[in-house]
Amino acid sequence: MLRFFMTLSRKKGVHAPVLLRESVSFLAPHGDGLYVDATFGGGSYSVAILGAANCRVVGIDRDPAALVDGLIVTRQFPGRLTLIEGCFSNIAALLAARGLQTVDGVALDLGVSALQLDTPERGFSFLADGPLDMRMGRSELTAAEIVNTYAEPQLACIIRVLGEERLARRVARTIIAARPITRTIALAALIRRVVPRTSNGVDPATRTFQALRLCVNNEIEELNRVLIASEQILAPGGRLVVVAFHSLEDRIIKRFFRERAGNSPRVSRHRPETSCRRRHKYTFNILTTKIIRPSKEEILTNPRARSARLRAAERTTAPPWPSESPDRRRGLPWSVP
Ligand SMILES: C[S@@+](CC[C@H](N)C(=O)[O-])C[C@H]1O[C@@H](n2cnc3c(N)ncnc32)[C@H](O)[C@@H]1O
Repeated sequence: MLRFFMTLSRKKGVHAPVLLRESVSFLAPHGDGLYVDATFGGGSYSVAILGAANCRVVGIDRDPAALVDGLIVTRQFPGRLTLIEGCFSNIAALLAARGLQTVDGVALDLGVSALQLDTPERGFSFLADGPLDMRMGRSELTAAEIVNTYAEPQLACIIRVLGEERLARRVARTIIAARPITRTIALAALIRRVVPRTSNGVDPATRTFQALRLCVNNEIEELNRVLIASEQILAPGGRLVVVAFHSLEDRIIKRFFRERAGNSPRVSRHRPETSCRRRHKYTFNILTTKIIRPSKEEILTNPRARSARLRAAERTTAPPWPSESPDRRRGLPWSVP
């Protein structure tokens, strides 16, 4: 398996980091600090943090191919960069296994890397032919399994909720009629037949591919869990910086920050405060009162930056809230595999 990922790591595109300067500035690394780059990818965030202060960084990625390439970066910063393979939802356990309990900052640059997107064999791209895989790491579920075995209502629900695709039912019906579908290009062509291109030129396959990728990698649950885990491991004054590319993810981050900072609006002023809000002290102060977006220049040089949004918050001294995922409380419409 590792040999497979090592082969993939040599076929990469170069990942152009998004909102890098702004993220490091909000993280505000200081000498002797310990920071987690929880989405190591091509390593640009780690390099920038290590360059900004004489600190230490733990780089986490679930993709073994990213870590194979990252070994070169560890040699540039002897003794200052540690790489760990794993899912960021397990950040607390991954650090504890190395004797680390608290950190001074956590950076999350969500989504796929160029290494993943530009390797057709990984199946993330609808522009290049590859198997319907989409796994970021060593998990079991593939996009092919979802596309070829899930029932129509479940498939439509995934495409509607995770892809925010209005025509989800039509897409699901078309997919089911064309089964088995094994290649990315074949799936993209099917979707383009039933979903019209929008005026902003976005490929009609974009939203369905996004939905499948989020589902394969359980990304919404991963995000919910890493936010809660970060609250537990950040030292007072420690910073959490998150760059998201989908409105779905950004809403989760916004709600979490607002809830934990005591800024979330009440559903109705006639309704009493929830017991959680009354019982717990606020664990974060929001640093980005206005959401941070890439500059026009960054979007021109890196079109992928177009949808990026950065939010940052600073940990207070209050104890963490009991660990219950906010979206679990609200209940997702299907159980994430
Ligand atoms: C957008 S890339 C990060 C790029 C990186 N910041 C850079 O500048 O090179 C996202 C990376 O996070 C990893 N990733 C996504 N979800 C993850 C998760 N739940 N746990 C660990 N790594 C994850 C992906 O494998 C990918 O390598």
